[in-house]
Amino acid sequence: MESMRRTIKSLLTTNRVWKSFFRHGRVSNDLNRALVITSNVVLHLHPVKVRKDSVRFGYTLGLGGISCLLFIILVFTGVLLAFYYVPSAALAYQSIKDIEMVVSYGRILRNMHRWAAHGMVITVLLHMCRVFYTNSYSKPREFNWVVGVGLLLLTLGLSFTGYLLPWDQLAFWAITVGTSMASYAPVIGEKIRYFLLGGNIVGQGALIRFYVLHCFVLPSVMVLAMALHFWRIRKDGGISGPELATANESESISAFPERSYGLMEVVEGTEITAERIPENTVFTWTHLIPKELLATIVVLTALNLITVFFNAPLEEMANATVTPNPAKAPWYFLGLQELVHYSAFFGGVLLPALIVVGLVVLPYTDVRGTDPGVWFSPKRKTQNAIFSILVLLMFALIIVGTFFRGQNWKMQWPW
Ligand code: HEM
Repeated sequence: MESMRRTIKSLLTTNRVWKSFFRHGRVSNDLNRALVITSNVVLHLHPVKVRKDSVRFGYTLGLGGISCLLFIILVFTGVLLAFYYVPSAALAYQSIKDIEMVVSYGRILRNMHRWAAHGMVITVLLHMCRVFYTNSYSKPREFNWVVGVGLLLLTLGLSFTGYLLPWDQLAFWAITVGTSMASYAPVIGEKIRYFLLGGNIVGQGALIRFYVLHCFVLPSVMVLAMALHFWRIRKDGGISGPELATANESESISAFPERSYGLMEVVEGTEITAERIPENTVFTWTHLIPKELLATIVVLTALNLITVFFNAPLEEMANATVTPNPAKAPWYFLGLQELVHYSAFFGGVLLPALIVVGLVVLPYTDVRGTDPGVWFSPKRKTQNAIFSILVLLMFALIIVGTFFRGQNWKMQWPW
């Protein structure tokens, strides 16, 4: 029996067709463990070897990878939704109703797209916090942090532009509020709003612009920006970790990313010698890929459960003459809307601008690069405290805006 199994396996894996697909033999030695990564276009995003620390789940929490996975789910479900959605002010709402009521599994598809989108905003924000608290943006990763800021803005932009597409009251008024916040900018504010809406009010012009941005422009830019982000992770010496001295060198690894462990690759026929396998690295194939598969299964299961039990909201069809009271922006802008209530210029223009500029310059202010790769380093107490206070403040404002604001933006209890 065993010999028959072996013969079949050998027949299957030694023929020309199999070999044209897979350039490596059984993954039972280091050379093949390396080749399985380098000879696969998707797996090749990873280096052959990664630092032990970086594959610990407790270090990255898998948040960057999960954000990427959610984006892939969004593209997949988004393409299917686009087969049925009609970007016309007269027909959009009905097409969403049809997706929910007529298309097979349409409601599931819509729920999944909606919850994955919220999930991605949350995981990207948490990923940014992880990078901050482990000081992973210090030299040589400053530029990749800046790329990350771009990714954050793109994520918010994708979510915001998608918000309008169902063309219901919630969508219509959230976008009316959101875009009017942009108009508070001096001189160019009104122009930005006009450009976004393709007119003075949210109408057909706005719908088609948001549709094109949401389905074509922003996802394409996102794919390019992600490619740059992943490429930089490789060039910056792999995922960060506590500073180490190499066996033969006294210099810290992160000062010489191009020589760092994570970047080593094995070309077919190259012998891997003991000196070329530093002790603090492990093979991606056996140590990282199974964890990524597990995370994928957990995320898909959680998303499916949420999708089955919670429906994406759909209110009455958009109506410019019936203003809901209060009209609220999407949740991630509610902190700013709360501040707009006190000062339109501060909440709508100054603070968002300060946040973006502050995030971009942040890594360049850290001249000492203290304790990269260490969670909540005691040497970074002040930075961590300031960042935590700002994050908590924004979070508190979002909670107030979501649950404690009622008619005419007056304070009320959520129950
Ligand atoms: C679409 C959004 C994003 C995706 C898909 C993404 C993906 C990833 C992945 C897969 C990693 C490898 C380590 C990990 O999983 O944590 C990573 C690392 C990194 N990301 Fe992101 N990221 C995104 C947004 C951001 C944002 C918003 C920032 C900061 C503003 C950022 C800054 C960084 C930095 C500096 C690293 C290197 C960190 C290290 O080496 O430990 N990323 N990103």
